[in-house]
Amino acid sequence: MPGSNVRTFADGDALARGAADDLAAIARTAVDARGVCHVALAGGSTPKRMFAELAARGRDALPWSRIELWFGDERTVGPDHPDSNYGMARATLIEPLGLDAARVHRVRGEDDPELAARDYERALVDALGTPPVLDLVLLGLGPDGHTASLFPATPALDETARWVVANPVDSPVAKGKTVRITLTVPAINAARHVRFVAGGADKAAILAAVLDGPPGRYPAQRIGGADVTWLIDAAAAGGTR
Ligand code: 6PG
Repeated sequence: MPGSNVRTFADGDALARGAADDLAAIARTAVDARGVCHVALAGGSTPKRMFAELAARGRDALPWSRIELWFGDERTVGPDHPDSNYGMARATLIEPLGLDAARVHRVRGEDDPELAARDYERALVDALGTPPVLDLVLLGLGPDGHTASLFPATPALDETARWVVANPVDSPVAKGKTVRITLTVPAINAARHVRFVAGGADKAAILAAVLDGPPGRYPAQRIGGADVTWLIDAAAAGGTR
């Protein structure tokens, strides 16, 4: 992905602070311009420190009453399951800040995946129109180059007509055979801002392959759009940035 914007922070804590600062700036600009900011949160473990940083700053640090939270993807589990991306955000961000549930749009991972995907897509389009232009999509990077739940060699990767799909996945990275609900590439690429957040030495090899290697090999390389920026720490940069 030549020409990608990359911001490198000293360590994991600095990355969490920097990612929180970046979200805050995007949110303030969106609210000033349109009175609302729509953010799709990433799942996995990386966002936990960023969410904890946002929670530590308190409700007054951002215009939370004007921020609508969505999810870039969800596992096909209920909200109380330890694998739930919503559950992680609820524990680290939503409950600590006492955010209004009416502004938190979770994927019903406990429902039939196709129905859950259709319902979520309908909610997104009802709120944002077509294409559903989110202000910010937060993404992580998996060891196989997946992002959201766009895993290598899965049907969702080539989806161009839908904004949200149920994606059958069979990968050790996803704990075997499962179905994930995910934003599609067109939905992510329609966003005003996309932020990959990746930290730690274990991300260095895949990050270099995605950013500096041949294009078209990894799902994360399909992500483009108006403003795609990578927020990484020095360990993930592996001395290359
Ligand atoms: C998920 C995420 C997924 C995640 C990457 C990185 O549901 O797990 O959407 O794409 O961002 O797998 O995960 P870590 O942050 O745990 O390394």
